[in-house]
Amino acid sequence: MSSVYIETYGCQMNFADSEIVASLLTKANHTIVTDIEAADYILINTCAIRDNAEQRIRKRLHELRALQQRHKQVRIGILGCMAERLQSQLMVEEENVSFVVGPDAYRRLPELLASVRTPGTKAAETELSTTETYADIEPVRLGSNGISAYISIMRGCQNYCAYCVVPYTRGRERSRDPETIVSEARNLFEQGYKEVTLLGQNVNSYRYASENGNVDFPELMHRVASISPLLRVRFATSHPKDLSDRLLEVMASHSNICKCIHLPVQSGSDRMLKLMNRHYDSAWYLDRIAAIRRYMPDCSITTDVIAGFCTETEEEHQMTLEMFRKVRYDYAYMFKFSMRPDTYAAKHLEDDIPEAEKTRRLEEIIALQGQIALENNRKEIGKTFEVLVEGESHRSKEQLFGRNSQNKVIVFDRHDAQPGQYIQVKVTDCTAATLKGEIVQP
Ligand code: 5AD
Ligand code: SF4
Repeated sequence: MSSVYIETYGCQMNFADSEIVASLLTKANHTIVTDIEAADYILINTCAIRDNAEQRIRKRLHELRALQQRHKQVRIGILGCMAERLQSQLMVEEENVSFVVGPDAYRRLPELLASVRTPGTKAAETELSTTETYADIEPVRLGSNGISAYISIMRGCQNYCAYCVVPYTRGRERSRDPETIVSEARNLFEQGYKEVTLLGQNVNSYRYASENGNVDFPELMHRVASISPLLRVRFATSHPKDLSDRLLEVMASHSNICKCIHLPVQSGSDRMLKLMNRHYDSAWYLDRIAAIRRYMPDCSITTDVIAGFCTETEEEHQMTLEMFRKVRYDYAYMFKFSMRPDTYAAKHLEDDIPEAEKTRRLEEIIALQGQIALENNRKEIGKTFEVLVEGESHRSKEQLFGRNSQNKVIVFDRHDAQPGQYIQVKVTDCTAATLKGEIVQP
């Protein structure tokens, strides 16, 4: 029996994967530890989406050399997207790494851990699968608050956006058996969890064919939301090209499906969207926004955007700003374009926007979005929301924080409220990032 320490970088999907890894290793008699000094194995679940994500992991590997000097028995393994992208080359470049394991090969981890015990041995397993969904694995919840949990409903992606490395690191798209998803959600609810987030790279294309008929994403949401009105259901991420009215209808008809949609726009320019291979234009995107508002006037909308993609002109950048002014997002993840090997962009386009120019464009988007978020939040002052209490505020022990259905964080004086409870909170003040409020006694 040995001790395994898991460190996770990247998206929610990666955090969900680490919980699958923890489950597989626990079953094989390993212990998951939270003290890195006590570890026989250090597993780093990595991200490859932008170059700076990879640089951060390389820096971390250098830092770990000192620990390896002190504990000669420690073996370091790289999991996830960077492992898949670089494969055994990573062990040549980073000498202190003993094994690399791609996202579809985690079942082989117990074997691989055993095989690298002998000093100097290395192992790599990076085969991608067209069928692996880890459907039968009940994740071990790591660092959980016991209130909200992720459920992975599909894996992979085959949209091939021109900038994106994910189809190469996570393989073909495949959906998980809905029965196993619903039973995982039900088990969580029975254990006291109050919120589940269904995860996939493009949940709108979830589809599972079984003897009992086809299940698509709206049907899956309906089934999960029907477990209990006290279980909140969220999801990420939607691709604008196939966000259907049927999904919006299902969202609107269940009060426990949270009114929040993450709809990555990437750019406001039609030429950029075409070059990015996004399969929609700005008119289509705005039509989907209008549909969301029609079904759910109180729905919050968030996005991802890329500044400085190949050949983007100043005018096209202005179109992105214009898109932000039109949609008025509640939150945005904003990035500078980072050229990734293997992608369509790397093979066919030139990374021709100078770094300083990318930075300027990004900063302009960030400034605009900050202003919009603040204005949106100010409109919430005076409203009362149902809030799921998550825990103590980072600022003060006297305060708790939670989220409303729109996924906005609200901080309030605790009185006798407890994490895991639903309470009514009236908003009294805000910043661009947080709402402040007070508990309304029923
Ligand atoms: N450079 C910058 N941002 C990227 N994203 C994906 N690939 C890249 C890249 N090469 C962003 C997209 C995506 C989010 C997860 O990361 O906005 O929606
Ligand atoms: Fe997640 Fe994509 Fe990063 Fe992989 S590359 S961890 S899928 S964000």
